[in-house]
Amino acid sequence: MEISRRLGCSRSAVSNAVQKHKLDVQNGGYHHKKYSLSSVKLALATSQPNQFNHRFINPPETKIYDDFWELPWDEWIMACDTHSPYVDTKIFNKMIQVAQHYGIKNFIHGGDFWDQSQFSFFDIDPEDLTDFSYDVRYSKSILKALDITFKDVRFFLGSHDVRYYKMLMSKGKHQKVKDIWNLLDNDKIQVSQYRFANIGPPGTGWRFNHPKNTVKAGGLSAVRMEAKFNRSMAFAHGHWFGHIMAPDGIHHLVAPGCMADKRRVSYKNAWDTSHDEWVNAFCMVVEKNKPILFSEHTPWGLYLK
Ligand SMILES: [Fe+2]
Ligand SMILES: [Fe+2]
Repeated sequence: MEISRRLGCSRSAVSNAVQKHKLDVQNGGYHHKKYSLSSVKLALATSQPNQFNHRFINPPETKIYDDFWELPWDEWIMACDTHSPYVDTKIFNKMIQVAQHYGIKNFIHGGDFWDQSQFSFFDIDPEDLTDFSYDVRYSKSILKALDITFKDVRFFLGSHDVRYYKMLMSKGKHQKVKDIWNLLDNDKIQVSQYRFANIGPPGTGWRFNHPKNTVKAGGLSAVRMEAKFNRSMAFAHGHWFGHIMAPDGIHHLVAPGCMADKRRVSYKNAWDTSHDEWVNAFCMVVEKNKPILFSEHTPWGLYLK
């Protein structure tokens, strides 16, 4: 009691520290225990923070976001922004051909697989909307093609993928953000709640992301992210196309275009923007993390002989 008074902390804090650190009792007897002040002080200091003296706080019992994908792949194809059902079948089928031709078994989609225009906050006329059940049916056929072609098929979230979730949230019906994929009845695909994935180790590996801001392959944001993550970077979300080396001459900065058919997306066609034009494209990575970009401008005869 004397010690707790002198240290200005609770008796339970002292007795807990004593028990935890198995301090020697200087004078026996159940009700007359004595400990040296300095040993109790040390025990308290080394057992902090604890829940007994309330002077220091414990970490909150909430999730720590460190379970994002670290994929140990050597070879893969990355594509993004399919905006299903508005996919460009020409570039999609070329991608399937490239995967078959070069024997690529890993596939990762970098967000905006769905368009979900039905749940958009933007201005879309009702007659421009598809039935959502059609989107689901059509998306199943895309998944089937990926399923047959690749061994490992993965998706991470983009800006459009969460529209359905947001609509349900606004009606008080909370579900997991990625639950929309359950509608596609495919057990093989994997979905990450993150808007990025790491492929390969830091330094030599890649980070494929769907950033909050749109990023141009050669722009300052791209260079900043390469420096921040110490990896080659591939940027979804912009629907832009490009490949440039980072200033270090080691890391690649890639904008792998999009899989969406720009003629089919209402918000793209009804409103002009000064941004770069969308390009249909995807990226294959082979031979120690080297990227090859394929696009609507690729001389296919050369690559698919
Ligand atoms: Fe997109
Ligand atoms: Fe996006």
